[in-house]
Amino acid sequence: MEPRLPNQGAAATGGRDDFAARLETEGLAILSDRPFTLTPRETALLSPAFSDGRAKNISLGAAQGVRGAAAAGASAESLAALMERFAAWAEALVSELAPRYAASLERGRTSFRTRSVDEPAASARKDDRRLHVDAFASQPTGGRRILRVFCNINPIGEPRVWLVGEPFEAYARRWFGRARRPWPGEAWLLRRLGITKAPRTRYDALMLALHDAAKLDKTYQRHAPRRQVSFPAGASWIVYTDSTVHAAIAGRYALEQTFYLPVSAMAAPEASPLRILEKMVGGILC
Ligand SMILES: [Fe+2]
Repeated sequence: MEPRLPNQGAAATGGRDDFAARLETEGLAILSDRPFTLTPRETALLSPAFSDGRAKNISLGAAQGVRGAAAAGASAESLAALMERFAAWAEALVSELAPRYAASLERGRTSFRTRSVDEPAASARKDDRRLHVDAFASQPTGGRRILRVFCNINPIGEPRVWLVGEPFEAYARRWFGRARRPWPGEAWLLRRLGITKAPRTRYDALMLALHDAAKLDKTYQRHAPRRQVSFPAGASWIVYTDSTVHAAIAGRYALEQTFYLPVSAMAAPEASPLRILEKMVGGILC
């Protein structure tokens, strides 16, 4: 079965060469028949008891190892092994569906989401129940795309539910005029203080400003165009979260892998946030 893009329905089919172009323009592909299946030992990890109760997710990164877990010893090793196995599975999946990405995929963090998305967020900016496109305050992408692979591994069949909003260009035009401009030297100081892990480019600053403006606007959150998308237990989905306006509103137990991709690897570079924003600004942003 071909991956399904919500706007196009199950009839949307095409060869593998088309997948990347369709994903870049539609933003989201649902794969109802490509589950990531847990082993019995991994299923035993589906418990909020392994969360440290502070971090939103348990996560694994190349440099920092496992974060957000309360587990020690064998359980900590099992959590790391599960996330490592999912990361390799997600990378193989993307490389199979979009071979043009394979050589350029850069692995970001892997997350194991044991907490319900209903739980209150630490702040409005961190509240992923509000419509937004992803922009990371501490992790500038420098114009690279953010591609994420999710799998709903809920053991009792509960769906994960998102809202998906307007096209990126409409979202960007809505907030562009109100976006806060960084003050001179801000990017240098943030890097110097270790607040950002890489220099925050003009592109990153603008993406973050759009993210914050959208999340903080109550009228937008209440009335902006959106449709509800339900991901059944066992479903996987691949999303450009830097161009797909989204909010997670229900669900518990998911795995997620983040990848970064340069715009040069895109089949439709004109659909990337970098190129859309550069067209709006009339200049280079990175
Ligand atoms: Fe997000």
